[in-house]
Amino acid sequence: MATQSEQVTILVTGGAGYIGSHFVNRYLQKKPFTHRILVIDNLSEGNPEAIENLKVLYGERLIFQRCGIGDAGVTTLLSDYGVSAVVHFAASALVAQSQVEPMLYLRNNVGESLKLLDSMQAAGVKNFVFSSTAAVYGTPNTDLILEDERKSPVNVYGRTKLMVEGMLDLLNERGALSYVTLRYFNAAGADPSGLIGEGHHEETHLIPIILQVANGRRKALKIYGNDYDTPDGTCIRDYIHVNDLADAHIAALEYMCQRPGTGEAFNLGTGHGDSVQAVVSLSCQVTGREIPVDLCGRREGDPPVLVASSDKAQQLLGWKPHYGLEDILKTAWQWEQNRKFCLQAT
Ligand code: UFG
Repeated sequence: MATQSEQVTILVTGGAGYIGSHFVNRYLQKKPFTHRILVIDNLSEGNPEAIENLKVLYGERLIFQRCGIGDAGVTTLLSDYGVSAVVHFAASALVAQSQVEPMLYLRNNVGESLKLLDSMQAAGVKNFVFSSTAAVYGTPNTDLILEDERKSPVNVYGRTKLMVEGMLDLLNERGALSYVTLRYFNAAGADPSGLIGEGHHEETHLIPIILQVANGRRKALKIYGNDYDTPDGTCIRDYIHVNDLADAHIAALEYMCQRPGTGEAFNLGTGHGDSVQAVVSLSCQVTGREIPVDLCGRREGDPPVLVASSDKAQQLLGWKPHYGLEDILKTAWQWEQNRKFCLQAT
């Protein structure tokens, strides 16, 4: 049994969600038995099956409490479990929805995050890892985005994430918080174990939709625009495997805990972009299936090219992505064919 002083407990918000559950898995897999995770999730988006599947692997090292990040009891949870750091995934994250329901995004992403920070302050917890997004850059002027690129989000989702980044800066400047902000590019893929994967109640992302078409669960992929200023006319994105993302959070936690007062933002991508058309072609090869497409008009708010420079993360965090697009598609395809939850979500 670990003694009280050896035990490390971190709080993970949104740990039943797609990226959060992959982080929980990687953290508990890599860290010694003295480390445990307390997940809080209100299950509005998260999947309880992800927690159940991980509980089978990690037993009591994974504690789950169904509650919101802004609930009054969070301060007590932080104190009772002796939490040393918070990794904050929970958020509303649908760009299109954010445009029509701005209040929801302000409430969930900004208001609830503020309450969480308040609870942390009350409990004396000063280490915070924040899930941000490439959406904070809007439509950048460069093809390879550095962290100090102009922040000009073109949708409400990106604006709410940028607001929280501002709150973290302010608290850090006042000496109240150490933080690392991680700006994700396009998360995709699944853990090779097949226990967890991408399972949104409403699917809008390119790769899961393509694979649902390959699997016969949808008729065709709608390609949103083939008249962009890119080599094949379709949008280019930087797809990064969810386990690579998860590992970057572990590196970020270590970096921050070794350097009290840290306040840094990092892009998480591969530095390489693929067009929608290229993803479709490679998906045909990986699945051995046909993927019918419908060419449609552009989707509002889609920048033509979003590719991360992740040099900063590689240099300071000592992290680098290991999976390429083919591995992403293979693991996502394995998940799609044997998925353990969210079967109804087409
Ligand atoms: N696309 C299609 N058809 C679809 C779905 C997507 O053609 O059915 C295209 C999109 O137009 C885009 C590309 O595939 O060009 C990728 O789209 P996704 O919806 O998979 O991802 P986004 O790049 O739009 O969104 C991602 C994250 C968001 C984040 C955003 C930042 O999922 O959380 O990057 O711009 F806000």
